[in-house]
Amino acid sequence: MSQAFVDLAPLVPAGTRTVIVHGVAAGTRQRLAGLLPEATVLDLADLADLAGTSGPAGTEPVRGAGPMANAGLAAGAGPVVGADLAVMEVASHVGQARIAAELLEMAYHLREGAVLLVVTARRLGSARQLNTLEDMFGAAEVAQRSGSAVVLRAVRGPEVRATADATSAAPTIEAVLLGHDLRFTTGAGLFSKNRIDDGTRLLIEALPVDHDWRDVLDLGCGYGPIGIAVSSRWPQVRVAMADIDPLAVSAARNNAELNHLSERCQAHLSDGTSALVDRRFDAVVSHLPTHVRKSTLARLIDESANVLRPGGELITVTASAVDLRDRIASTFGTVEVLAESQAGTTPPYRVVHAVKTEQPSR
Ligand SMILES: C[S@@+](CC[C@H](N)C(=O)[O-])C[C@H]1O[C@@H](n2cnc3c(N)ncnc32)[C@H](O)[C@@H]1O
Repeated sequence: MSQAFVDLAPLVPAGTRTVIVHGVAAGTRQRLAGLLPEATVLDLADLADLAGTSGPAGTEPVRGAGPMANAGLAAGAGPVVGADLAVMEVASHVGQARIAAELLEMAYHLREGAVLLVVTARRLGSARQLNTLEDMFGAAEVAQRSGSAVVLRAVRGPEVRATADATSAAPTIEAVLLGHDLRFTTGAGLFSKNRIDDGTRLLIEALPVDHDWRDVLDLGCGYGPIGIAVSSRWPQVRVAMADIDPLAVSAARNNAELNHLSERCQAHLSDGTSALVDRRFDAVVSHLPTHVRKSTLARLIDESANVLRPGGELITVTASAVDLRDRIASTFGTVEVLAESQAGTTPPYRVVHAVKTEQPSR
């Protein structure tokens, strides 16, 4: 998200000594440092070790909202950090439950009277974020609209209310995939956190049985169902799982361990294949994200082609309404349908398959 036009100067309270940031771009961080040269700037992710298991006095305890959200207060204690200001930028790839969990976690580190600023892209819509802030803090406002961004503002009162979104528990999933009993722990805001998604299952069941894959990439792995199913079914395969979401990567890593596969199935924090450009794969398997820009989807397809060996295969699933066949064919030359959901499944999914020729067409 480009926040080139956000002017933080009028929004930063005088006398700010401690700031917590979360998901902010390097430019925003630099502007904050320029505005508050004396202040200590802490990253929310680095505060996760200050773990308690409950929210501020008088609020619901934080349950099952992912590892980071457990950095709340012990009941009755003061804020963990007691910061004067928090600044969060909402990433486009995370869901509302996750955003709510992160807002709650930020709130726990703020002193009473502290200001929370949420910078969000206009195109993502700010109404839900505003509602969540109002639910948590009692009041919130649009403090700035500028260029492509909206800045929301709330002040931490004596109480912070944990919304249902933020505390929705994520159970452990047990599933039989490719004939193997597998277990997955998930987390708030992760894709299909309560059950293996139908599209994901359709892809897994459509995977060719006969192949000589050595290296497989699960692109956009979430908590890891595809990569982990491949790894358990074909022990000779080395699986890399990649996701842009740190919580997904952490869950995928935990799940590889939980299923005793961590030696041959590893998770990487990666925007597309950026962390894996030096690796080559025989197959890229992916339940592609569809709540992203078209250009991002196109990039993920092109990057898949780039990391495949000649003869390597791309196998992806998307909701049938998101038809990527032309886009995949424009990169790979051809594309075929491997599987489609049975009639009546909502939403219906389509699994497609493409092979990288010696000379990719792009
Ligand atoms: C539809 S979900 C699939 C998750 C998992 N593979 C499953 O089947 O349950 C898409 C995943 O892609 C990830 N994602 C979105 N944009 C990405 C990007 N630019 N690079 C890598 N992963 C991305 C999301 O965080 C999400 O976990």
